[in-house]
Amino acid sequence: MTARILDGKAISAAIRQEIAADVAEYTQQHRVTPCLAAVLVGEDPASEVYVRNKQRACEKAGIQSQLHRLPVDASESDLLTRVGQLNQDSQVHGILVQLPLPKQIDETQVLDAVHPWKDVDAFHPENVGLVVQGRPRFLPCTPHGVLQILHRSEIAVAGKQVVIVGRSEIVGKPLGNMLVQRGSELGPQAVNATVTICHSRTADLAQITRQADILVAAIGQAKFITADMIKPGAVLIDVGINRTDDGLVGDIDFEGVLDVAGAITPVPGGVGPLTVTMLLRNTLTAAKIQLA
Ligand code: GUN
Repeated sequence: MTARILDGKAISAAIRQEIAADVAEYTQQHRVTPCLAAVLVGEDPASEVYVRNKQRACEKAGIQSQLHRLPVDASESDLLTRVGQLNQDSQVHGILVQLPLPKQIDETQVLDAVHPWKDVDAFHPENVGLVVQGRPRFLPCTPHGVLQILHRSEIAVAGKQVVIVGRSEIVGKPLGNMLVQRGSELGPQAVNATVTICHSRTADLAQITRQADILVAAIGQAKFITADMIKPGAVLIDVGINRTDDGLVGDIDFEGVLDVAGAITPVPGGVGPLTVTMLLRNTLTAAKIQLA
């Protein structure tokens, strides 16, 4: 058996078309163009690439984008001042503070300062809480991308054993919270999973990952998940983006698992494009919320 490749790029392109149409309708109806402000502190090369991708995607979808740059030695107070200005600016609907931040800045302080209605990353505790309670304002972008890939690939999640490896605030934890909900905008089949979240302190990890009907790798270690760790026919979702001498690779040993897995997302071209796409969706949602 050779695994089905889940084409995140194609799925992303289809959703971006839908969003562009929704943005055009919104803009025409309300004479307001949705606007995303990205804040970039320093010149980290990976962050530069991400921010550029987001800006380009915004333009193509008819969303305005702003880039606010601060020097690498900016203080926490400098950044909080900038976030405060963007909170007040009625032209700006979404605010994204690109992570990671330089070490002199406390990430939590900054993310908590973003107005919850402009928090298109869904990192603010109010928005995290709403997701946990099953009444989301914004869905976190990467986890939402994972749900979209599964849904649009017609892979039902309800009743399945889903194992997530990685407990980050950006992917593992929110994804687990979303997958255990009773309902979702994609219907009950897209959620209602039995979820296990594994991490660096998990005992006998492989014994758990081998139970997974759907295995999500969000660890941040190149080729960490190997063929012996998966159940034959399992659906593998690779959230990892690791820069190695061999170029970009995921958290799953892609070549090694191809004959065992039922389906797999590649890196690049899997979950990555969906993250930006769901950010566009959240920016339009933010504009709608602020209309009232
Ligand atoms: N850096 C890596 N991933 C993300 C993300 O999803 N949002 C932000 N703001 N920064 C990131």
